[in-house]
Amino acid sequence: MPLEPIVELQSQRLKLRPVAERDLQDLLEINGDPEVTRFLPYPAWQSLDDGAGWLGRMEALAAAGTGQQLVLVRKADSKVVGTLLLFRFDEPSGRVEMGFVLGRPWWRQGLMAEAVEAVCAHVFSAMSLRRVEAEVNPANAASNRLLKRAGFTHEGTLRKRWVAKGEAYDTHFYGCLAEDWAAR
Ligand SMILES: CC(C)(COP(=O)(O)OP(=O)(O)OC[C@H]1O[C@@H](n2cnc3c(N)ncnc32)[C@H](O)[C@@H]1OP(=O)(O)O)[C@@H](O)C(=O)NCCC(=O)NCCS
Repeated sequence: MPLEPIVELQSQRLKLRPVAERDLQDLLEINGDPEVTRFLPYPAWQSLDDGAGWLGRMEALAAAGTGQQLVLVRKADSKVVGTLLLFRFDEPSGRVEMGFVLGRPWWRQGLMAEAVEAVCAHVFSAMSLRRVEAEVNPANAASNRLLKRAGFTHEGTLRKRWVAKGEAYDTHFYGCLAEDWAAR
């Protein structure tokens, strides 16, 4: 069975829905910023063509049933302020991995914490998954902090697991089980 698609989720200030081609201009502002992509495995987007290539890869994930790319839309003005990806869905294990990106003007306002809360609540209740995982560069203070505050456990560190931008780097592995979520 493929990952059950999310049609729309709501949090206090955000609407989360599947990415669409019309989002690419807002997403270029976000992913075109090297500060935003500093800890991400891809370079900052240079143009809408980079966005179109990325969108094609996200559509392929959805078509394969192994993932879904959501966008975070601010309710106040319908601006797309970030993305949240569910990927590496493993149905027999009831497990999915999560990744997230927020545009720099909206950092430190608790917006991604809100989005993670809404998605985890849905994944563990409506979708009945058992486990959500995330991998984070140890130097990415905001992401490490966010996950711990959201109820994820730092389960270990894999040494020099990834090479990106010419550098090998460690990754902190985080996990949240359905029972962790229920007990928060
Ligand atoms: C990671 C990211 C999504 C965090 O989003 P955010 O909405 O700013 O996060 P929040 O406001 O919910 O903050 C989460 C926690 O991290 C803390 N924090 C935020 N930015 C921080 C920073 N630069 N350094 C240290 N702590 C930071 C916040 O104070 C908050 O902690 P608190 O709950 O104890 O107050 C955002 O910084 C981002 O998009 N970064 C670039 C892309 C990226 O690295 N994605 C993650 C890949 S694993």
